[in-house]
Order: sequence, then C-alpha cells, then structure tokens
Amino acid sequence: MCPAENKISVFYKVNLLYPVNDLEDFKPIANAYLAVKEGKIIEVGSGKGYEKYPEANFISLEGKIIVPGFIDAHTHLVYAGSREKEMIRKLAGESYLDILKSGGGILNTVKETREASFGELYSKAEATLDRMLAFGITTVETKSGYGLDFETEIKQLEVVKALNEKHPLTLVSTFMGAHALPDSYKDKREEYLELMKEVLKVVRTRNLASFCDIFCEEGVFSISESKDFLEFAKELGFGVKIHADEMTPLGGAALAVELKATSAEHLLASRDEDLRKLGKSDTIAVLLPLTSFYLDKPFGNARKMIDYGCNVAIASDYNPGSSPSENLQLAMQLAVLKMKMTPKEVLKAVTINAAKAIGLEDTKGSLVPGKDADFVVLDCPNLDYFFYRFGINLVEKVYIKGKKVT
Ligand code: NIG
Ligand code: FE
Repeated sequence: MCPAENKISVFYKVNLLYPVNDLEDFKPIANAYLAVKEGKIIEVGSGKGYEKYPEANFISLEGKIIVPGFIDAHTHLVYAGSREKEMIRKLAGESYLDILKSGGGILNTVKETREASFGELYSKAEATLDRMLAFGITTVETKSGYGLDFETEIKQLEVVKALNEKHPLTLVSTFMGAHALPDSYKDKREEYLELMKEVLKVVRTRNLASFCDIFCEEGVFSISESKDFLEFAKELGFGVKIHADEMTPLGGAALAVELKATSAEHLLASRDEDLRKLGKSDTIAVLLPLTSFYLDKPFGNARKMIDYGCNVAIASDYNPGSSPSENLQLAMQLAVLKMKMTPKEVLKAVTINAAKAIGLEDTKGSLVPGKDADFVVLDCPNLDYFFYRFGINLVEKVYIKGKKVT
C-alpha cells in the first residue's frame, strides 16, 4: 500500500478529465486540474483555479486525458500452472464443460494449486498484478476456488491478504470454494457443500474475504444448492455474487435478484424474463467479454440489459481456463466493438459500476472530492480514440492515492 503524502499535489493542465460521477451522461472537464491531499481528491476544477494552492506540488499533465483507475471486478488471480493443452483440446472439438467432466479444466488447476507453496502462488500472482497495474487497473476483485479443500482455499485467500498489504493495487477477496466438485466428493455433493460452509466460517473469523460466490451451472452447482449456500453466506455477513447462466439458462440471474446479490456475473445464457428482473434490481450485471471471445461464445447482451435498466460492469475474468489474459483494456474495446456499448458506458462499467460490484463505491470509481485519487493517464486525445486503437496498451501513467506507481 502507498503511504499518502501530506502536502497537496495538483495535477494540472489536463486536456480532458473524465470524472465518471454517477450522472447518466457525465461530461468530460476540459483544461482540468485535480487537487489531492493525503491520497484523497479534494477538488476537481478547470482553468486556473489551481492557483489557490500556491504551496502545492505541481504536476503538469499537459495535453493528456485522465480517467479513474480501472477496476477489474471479477478475476481468479491466485492459482498455479497453466492450461494451454486444453486450448488444443477445445480446437479439436471438446467443450469447456466436457473437459471439466473428464477431470480436467478447473480440477487440473486445483491439483497444481494444492501442490504449490504459498511463496510460489504469491510470486505468480504478484507478477500478474504488476501486469494488471501496467494496463491501468488499480483495484481488483479476486476469487478463491482452486483449492476445494480447507487448507488450499485458506492458502489462496492468505496470499491475497499478503499481496493486498504489499502491492500498491487494492484487492477485494471473494470466497469461491463452491467453484467445482472435487473428484473425492463426486458422490457426496451435500457433504462437500457442508465442508465449504465450515471453511466459510473460518474465512469470516479470520476476515479473509468480503464476498462469497458460487459456480451455478449445469453439472456444477444447481439453483437450489446455490441458494442454500449463498443464504448461509449472507447470514454470516458476506456479500454474495453468482457465476450465473454462463453456459446454460439455469436461472442464476433471477436467483441473484432474489438473494439481493451484489452482482450476477457472466449472464451469457440468461432468460429474457430474468434479465428484466435484474434490470429492476440493484444487483450489478458483470459481463466478461474476454471469456466469450476466448471460449468462442456469444457476447453478453449488454444493450438489452442496459435497456432493461441494469447497471453493467465489464471485467476480465482473468483465470487459467476461460480467460488467460490481464488485458482489461481489450475487454473494454470488445464491449464497444462487439457488444455495442458506448465508450462512456464502458468507462462507467470499469469504474463506478465496477466499484459498486465490489462494494467500494464510496472510495473508488470516480474522480470526485472525498474519493481516493486513483487515476490513469491515457495516451489518447479523447475517449473515443481509446476504443479505436484497440489491442495495445494505451496507459501512460498510473496513480494510486495520488502517488505515481508506473
Ligand atoms: O469464470 N466459470 C467458472 N470459473 C471461471 C473459469 C475457471 C477455470 O476454467 O479455471 C470462469 O469462467
Ligand atoms: Fe469467473
């Protein structure tokens, strides 16, 4: 974590600053400045208003545009190994769920993660966070779920805790012990979920996660199992999330609404009536275009969801199976080019809406007084350009709590 500076810093002569406040159609501020004290934004203004801070430390960002730091609201950060062999199996015609059923997929990563030491998991995840930071990501949500036993689930969460203390990025942890059924519990589904409830209690006591998520999917966990498990998590005080309707329309989106989940994630196969319910709720719809791209599936119907009133977030789903990439910028660009979201909708989707999806909307996600001064300087003349110049890294500098970190 970055120690904050006492002195006021003023970032000035900014060509365009995109505050991404909660307004439906926020306007960029031209010729802007941003005043920061002790890591927090104290003023956002334009013109020469910064002259009222003569003692400040002045940092010129002449001709640049700045946006809030990107928030990746759905990742699976901590794991060992890689799964490029499965990519070849998929090319030969096997599906993602077939590979999982044959003991591969998530279960492959589980085997390697169980064998890995704390230090190995830490170093691999740290390198991933460094790459994320370079792509302009300043806050990351990350799920456990490659342990599927007491020891390894806790080990994954402990790695996140240690990284959160050391790395400049902010991390939010989600317990996802219900990510798959391990082989040893093949015929003991109930027993497995009971075991995960016990782990969840320990996670609560040790304060190792804020959220609980479950893979609600055909051949993984059913709607009734998911409901029971997440209700238990809510009683313990966790916010809840669901991997919902990723491959099959089981009704995960409707369950998320019923449970007042913080977010419903994936939503590729959701039924129309369930999306309408989602649109009337406060549950954030987290869409993952890199996963659609990588698994060669349709993209989430963001236009329809927005029409129905959903608050949409876009995330990377970084993981070794369905989205082995940290490039949230590419996810944003696919959201415009393939999902037909507007550049402003996508900017909201990786800032303020993503902050809401992980319960950090009071401190992150927009450049307004009182929030953390997490922002990104883009090598772009305007926001549209960011989506037009796709596939490369357009971030020039990254600031977290007012301090330059790349
Ligand atoms: O979000 N769907 C479940 N979990 C991950 C994939 C995990 C893996 O394949 O390792 C996802 O797509
Ligand atoms: Fe996921």
